[in-house]
Amino acid sequence: MDIKFVKADKLKEKPDPSTLGFGKLFTDYMFIMDWTKEEGWKDARIVPFDYIPIHPASTVLHYGSEIFEGLKAYRRADGRVQMFRPIENIRRMNNSAERLCLPQIPEDMALEIYTKFVDLEKDWTPSAEGTSLYLRPFMFGNDESLGVHAVHNATFMIIASPVGSYYKEGINPVKIMIEDEDVRAVRGGTGYAKCGGNYAASNRAGERAEQKGFSQVLWLDGVERKYIEEVGAMNVMFKIGDEIVTPKLTGSILPGITRKSCIEVLKKEGYTVNERLLSVDELEKAMDDGTLVEAWGCGTAAVVSPIGELCYKDKKFTVNGGKIGEITQHLYDTLTGIQWGKVEDTFGWTYMIG
Ligand code: PLP
Ligand code: COI
Repeated sequence: MDIKFVKADKLKEKPDPSTLGFGKLFTDYMFIMDWTKEEGWKDARIVPFDYIPIHPASTVLHYGSEIFEGLKAYRRADGRVQMFRPIENIRRMNNSAERLCLPQIPEDMALEIYTKFVDLEKDWTPSAEGTSLYLRPFMFGNDESLGVHAVHNATFMIIASPVGSYYKEGINPVKIMIEDEDVRAVRGGTGYAKCGGNYAASNRAGERAEQKGFSQVLWLDGVERKYIEEVGAMNVMFKIGDEIVTPKLTGSILPGITRKSCIEVLKKEGYTVNERLLSVDELEKAMDDGTLVEAWGCGTAAVVSPIGELCYKDKKFTVNGGKIGEITQHLYDTLTGIQWGKVEDTFGWTYMIG
């Protein structure tokens, strides 16, 4: 496809990798293309990273028509740069688009865009341990009118940010509070879609949890407030006795690509992994009788993140003595090993740039 390129007058200085947090700095360029119902996708361009003009009546500003993705490009030990399962992000974005009545992007077109953009910005992929280039594709409805209806104009963009770890704890265990008041999503709603509104709705509980010293909240289902769903920016997994349990995808949970990858790794290695309903009562019982051996979260930004403390209705439980567990460490090592090109990718998940 034809992507117009507008060269920046001056390129930015690359940051010191030891100072990278999450999503605070951006690369030199951004990708943009527009869509209209009549013409489809058009005007694909890579331009210097900058503010974008937006009409004050734009759909996204009033009715929240926005979806996004998150994936990373990694600097391998041999110096080359690769993405991790980009096709999964492309497919998930199309599912999100379908739910939000935004336009879909053909898979081969999206992959070409991701590849060309990362190739241009690959020098921004840091090489220090645990760092990567976080890619944030996003799309929003951009009609310049206040009527509420499926959008007729949309914009798709990609921005990129060199990142370190998402949590200030790094790979150290995080403290998570089980939220029993607010809910994030309900079946039939937008929980499975990666849309901005889900995150806006979760901020109040997240803020309350942070004030109490927790990193994020663990959501319960929106109908009975009984079943474990996921954490603010990651899916969750538990080792209870010999079983590894992760909440099944009922429609209100984001189908995480890291979750899928963890399940595939564990199943290949012969572990018992069950995607099923897990009630908070069952989890509480497992915490009380000591059968909850490990708990961890998994997501692109969070990677594999041990959960060292869980709090439910002001009752605090320490998981695995507050230390990273064996399976959590193993998953972290395996996934990051594949992502940074240190472990052979027997799954065919990595996608080399250039
Ligand atoms: N759940 C939520 C709410 C998320 O924001 C994320 C992050 O993208 C995940 C789960 C994990 O998904 P993935 O592994 O695809 O990054
Ligand atoms: C990601 O892991 O890519 C996410 O999108 C999480 C994010 C909300 C920070």
